[in-house]
Amino acid sequence: RVSSAVQDKDTIAKSSKKGKTKPVVKLDTNPPKGTRDFYPEDMRLRTWLFDQWRAVAKTYSFLEYDAPVLESESLYTRKAGEEVTQQLYNFVDKGDRAVALRPEMTPSLARMVMAKKGGLPLPLKWFSIPQCWRYERMTRGRRREHFQWNMDIWGIAGVEAEADLLSAMVAFFKRVGLTSEDVGIKVNSRLVIAEVLTELGIPEDKFAATCVLIDKLEKVPLDAIQGDLEELGLDRSVIEQLTQVLTNNSIEGLEETLGPDSEAIQELKKLVELCEAYGIDDWILIDASVIRGLAYYTGIVFEAFDRKGVLRAIAGGGRYDKLLETFGGDPTPAAGFGFGDAVIVELLKERNVLPSFESSGTDTVIFAMNQDLYKVALGVATTLRENGQSVDVVLEQKKPKWVFKHSDRIGAKYCVIVAPDEYENGQVSVKDLESGEQTAVMIDALPEWVQGTD
Ligand code: HAM
Repeated sequence: RVSSAVQDKDTIAKSSKKGKTKPVVKLDTNPPKGTRDFYPEDMRLRTWLFDQWRAVAKTYSFLEYDAPVLESESLYTRKAGEEVTQQLYNFVDKGDRAVALRPEMTPSLARMVMAKKGGLPLPLKWFSIPQCWRYERMTRGRRREHFQWNMDIWGIAGVEAEADLLSAMVAFFKRVGLTSEDVGIKVNSRLVIAEVLTELGIPEDKFAATCVLIDKLEKVPLDAIQGDLEELGLDRSVIEQLTQVLTNNSIEGLEETLGPDSEAIQELKKLVELCEAYGIDDWILIDASVIRGLAYYTGIVFEAFDRKGVLRAIAGGGRYDKLLETFGGDPTPAAGFGFGDAVIVELLKERNVLPSFESSGTDTVIFAMNQDLYKVALGVATTLRENGQSVDVVLEQKKPKWVFKHSDRIGAKYCVIVAPDEYENGQVSVKDLESGEQTAVMIDALPEWVQGTD
């Protein structure tokens, strides 16, 4: 479609072909709505964040995995009315296959575990940092693509898994300079809902869809989901009783409603005890209103949030013991979380704890005073690189003034100048850009010089 913008003089470039000119629509340089470009300074921040995630995963002995960003659409066509399944980037490919960009990693992980048919030694502790795609209505911290740190444990039925996961999440927060005054993690168990539903005589197959509906109640009034309720065959009073139970924010409060034999209570109590043992109890709060929007969670669910209450959920996860069964696999207990890259960066910026990336990481800028010495400069650069330095060769003839300004701009530590007089003596000139001191170093002795730098 040729828009009216084409009429605009600025948006038309003329191209001439065999004497004819035809208008060229100038490229819209914005990335597709809801997606991001990563210029080097953005990429540096992203890499830094991923490095922190990887480092924490490593200290908890999790192994990294990956899967394709494009999956079969059927991996996500769950029928519980979840938002995420309505936000699919899906299409039919040239081979008539219904495919989708992954909106989350968990189904791919389940597919990978299932593919090995029990051949993987359990428990497995795996992590990944996939880019995920959701056709979202955009709000602060919600985009149409995001990167999501996933940490999952398969094969552990007890809350020992959840406690380990929560501890890893807290280790990350601490590592990047956040405290339990900045961030809290709300914890609940979906067993609370399961127990209330059983009490009310609601069949088990309504469980997942009811959880998804209740989660929606955070955003919309009860009237707005009346139709969904009727479709599920649920009485309005069931929801009202459930929401009443979900206002509890202490184990004691829940225990009063569910009784001392409640499995949900036992589980939550044990989790709190383990969190105390991990030393993370000041980060954890019991909050029965946390349900989470994904249908597959079966037990403990949790959500990390900004205590100031300004930002959206930082991360979320829970137990999903039946996901593999819904794909026709063997029952296998599993728990994990997803942690997006968007909200955390906003929080770190707000709390002023983002690292400053003043240096590009370049150690040395090297330049030749004249063209004849250019090849010598290349040899010197190779020596420095082979000895571990990051070296930027000035690729065209420039004045020293330009080179020093450039070195300063990229935050280099040294400048190596290949000049005729020194070269005649087998030397180059090395300028320490911090102290301004300039010394002559024998070309043969450059490896030792590198050893002496930090
Ligand atoms: P989720 O709650 O849908 O869970 O997403 C997890 C986290 O990903 C969110 O808390 C948020 O940080 C980030 N996130 C999600 N959608 C967006 C978006 N549109 N823009 C920016 N960030 C976003 C899951 O996806 C589960 N699969 C997590 C999981 C792993 N559960 C068990 N294992």
